[in-house]
Amino acid sequence: MGKFLLGVIVAVVVLILCALGFALLGFLPTPANVEPASYERHFAMSAVDASMERHAPRLTNPLTPTDQNLEDGMKLYTMNCALCHGGLDRKPSTLANSFYPPPPNFISDPPDDPEWHTFYTMRTGIRYSGMPAWDKTLSESDMWKITLLLSHMDKLPPAVQDYWKSNFNAAPVTSDEEKKGEEKHDHP
Ligand code: HEC
Repeated sequence: MGKFLLGVIVAVVVLILCALGFALLGFLPTPANVEPASYERHFAMSAVDASMERHAPRLTNPLTPTDQNLEDGMKLYTMNCALCHGGLDRKPSTLANSFYPPPPNFISDPPDDPEWHTFYTMRTGIRYSGMPAWDKTLSESDMWKITLLLSHMDKLPPAVQDYWKSNFNAAPVTSDEEKKGEEKHDHP
């Protein structure tokens, strides 16, 4: 029994040393300008979602979707998120293909997660990805306004849709478009 245990311990130590050697001898790739393999993307996204489920507090948005809050959300989104997640003008985002994993485009494919999930992702960021933590940059109320916008993209009140059209020279998201985005997620 003692010999068996020793064998297991030696095997584990050798495996750890091999993994360390593999990394320290430069075998791990670093480029961020390539597409992750689909198995890697699925595994990573499932792990990120499971971690959010475990850690994120189930907070309720303290703000209501008034025209003012949604329009403030648009301004804040444009200033802080559009660079990576796509602008309300619907032009491709500057950094759309420059991260590993790439940032999802929220204008053509808004997140369908609960608000507490989006808020937590924004507040804490996503480690080992290009997604920053915003808790040191944005106030809680600003983050809730952006969350409101993201969860109401396909059901904006008419006045806010007009605001979008006249300020960003593009049409707001429709619910058809959101459905298409969901299908894309389910069958990549
Ligand atoms: C510098 C680029 C960058 C900026 C700026 C940025 N993000 Fe991200 N974001 C990313 C990347 C890259 C990912 C993908 C991370 C992953 O897949 O693990 C991401 C992922 C996310 C996700 C998770 C999406 C999902 O499918 O679960 C949310 C939510 C999010 N970002 C919200 C925001 C919001 C809101 C802002 C603005 C306050 C913002 N991000 C600003 C790069 C950025």
